[in-house]
Amino acid sequence: MKESNISISVIKRLPRYYRFLENLKNNGIARISSNELSERMGLTASQIRHDFNCFGGFGQQGYGYNVPELHAKIGEILCVNREQKTILIGAGNLGKAVANKIMQRQSGFKLIGIFDKNEAMSGTMIHGLPVRHVDYLENFCIDNSPVCAVICIPSNDMKELTDLLCRLGIKSFWNFSNYDIAMVHPEVLVENVHLTDSLMTLSFLTSSKED
Ligand code: NAI
Repeated sequence: MKESNISISVIKRLPRYYRFLENLKNNGIARISSNELSERMGLTASQIRHDFNCFGGFGQQGYGYNVPELHAKIGEILCVNREQKTILIGAGNLGKAVANKIMQRQSGFKLIGIFDKNEAMSGTMIHGLPVRHVDYLENFCIDNSPVCAVICIPSNDMKELTDLLCRLGIKSFWNFSNYDIAMVHPEVLVENVHLTDSLMTLSFLTSSKED
């Protein structure tokens, strides 16, 4: 099966496998049986086999999984070693935290520019990168050709900003704002992140358990 045909639900489980295997690897565990992996992850062994078979299967009968190899293979599938040029808009509380996260570990993206409309922030450094005024965004994109944008600003200016970024060649967005980029620009990839969605789900589950 071609990797592009893999269902999105399988793809969405891969980062968890990756994280889990990284932990095992860092603890010096070189090999794990499919049963043990399933028990530790709270998944069925057949679910794990099904997921890995989508990529050709990694285990060996009677041996289980080679942890460093499987970790590397899943990293390869997730393209964590790529360095897709990325910019971040909005260097406030969230923007700083997200920038640090992107810089700290391999995720497939390389932060090359940070922009904010607050002039007082211009020239301040985040993880070695200067914050630039958003007026420089267009020229920066023309000169550096970023392909991904991380959005950490309120929704007010988002229409104008996303129109500009799409025109400048941005192909994917990691969107923390409430603005629905995909509705306006179906041609780009958008991964929305809303921490409060998760919190509200927890609120519902907690309340229904109490009832
Ligand atoms: P903040 O006020 O600390 O930072 C926002 C920054 O964006 C400011 O530095 C501001 O100057 C800048 N900004 C605003 N409009 C801009 C524009 N058009 N171009 C460039 N820079 C611009 O706010 P915080 O806490 O960092 O949150 C930012 C946004 O992210 C808020 O709208 C908030 O609702 C949202 N948010 C979303 C979360 C999520 O899970 N999706 C979690 C936390 C915040």
